[in-house]
Amino acid sequence: MIITVANNREGIGRSTIAVNIATLRAMVGRTVLLIDLDPKKSSLEWSRARDSANIQPQIPARSIMGKHLEAEIGGMVSGYNDILIDATWRNTRGVQVALEIADMVVVPVVVDGDSVEDLKQVVRRIKVARRTNPDLWALVVITHAEGVLPISELDKIRHYIGKIPSAALAGTVIRKRGALQQAFSEGLSIFEYKPADPLAMAEMHDLYRAQKRRHARVPSLSQLQKYADGS
Ligand SMILES: Nc1ncnc2c1ncn2[C@@H]1O[C@H](COP(=O)(O)OP(=O)(O)OP(=O)(O)O)[C@@H](O)[C@H]1O
Ligand SMILES: [Mg+2]
Repeated sequence: MIITVANNREGIGRSTIAVNIATLRAMVGRTVLLIDLDPKKSSLEWSRARDSANIQPQIPARSIMGKHLEAEIGGMVSGYNDILIDATWRNTRGVQVALEIADMVVVPVVVDGDSVEDLKQVVRRIKVARRTNPDLWALVVITHAEGVLPISELDKIRHYIGKIPSAALAGTVIRKRGALQQAFSEGLSIFEYKPADPLAMAEMHDLYRAQKRRHARVPSLSQLQKYADGS
């Protein structure tokens, strides 16, 4: 399965989500490759930190320039059960290819006044990708959530996603948590990080479950509301 993590905003948790989903998939015995399309190479560095500390399961990563993705992907799919593509926020051809070859796109979104505008940009690209990849399924997840989330904004996001075919909004929210940042810098997933942060683990595990359930629906406002005041 190929899962692309994409959106057009810088620094909102794409790499964090990519490496955590990759680790959970590897933990259940799947062979996983991370492809890092971002020139910053943060997923690649995460994988290297993991290797240096000899953490199992190993999760190999490759940094590929977007323009080479199309030519190289064929040689990689046969070697792995799952490929997680950490796409850059830039509007590159590589990101478009990453959407055209994926089974699923996970779209992190931050709740602020620009959420729906951000989503519109990614959805435009998803629609283009669906011309050649009609089965591409999109899972949107609210990330970097801080403090009290405005219900009106959550509802706008929910309504917008509800109108997009083959798209769902994860019924979980990834809150801003120091453990996620620290784990990432040590080459760990949140599930391996000590001291354990049970809330961060639960949120990420819910996201993992949502991406496994292809037919997840847009959650009710009350489902989302329980995250709105933070915990
Ligand atoms: N939910 C979170 N809570 C706390 N820190 C987070 C969270 N998600 C990401 N971070 C931290 O924020 C920074 C940016 O996150 P990340 O690298 O995952 O985002 P990105 O969208 O891939 O960014 P970039 O545009 O640099 O590729 C990192 O330091 C990461 O550890
Ligand atoms: Mg990144």
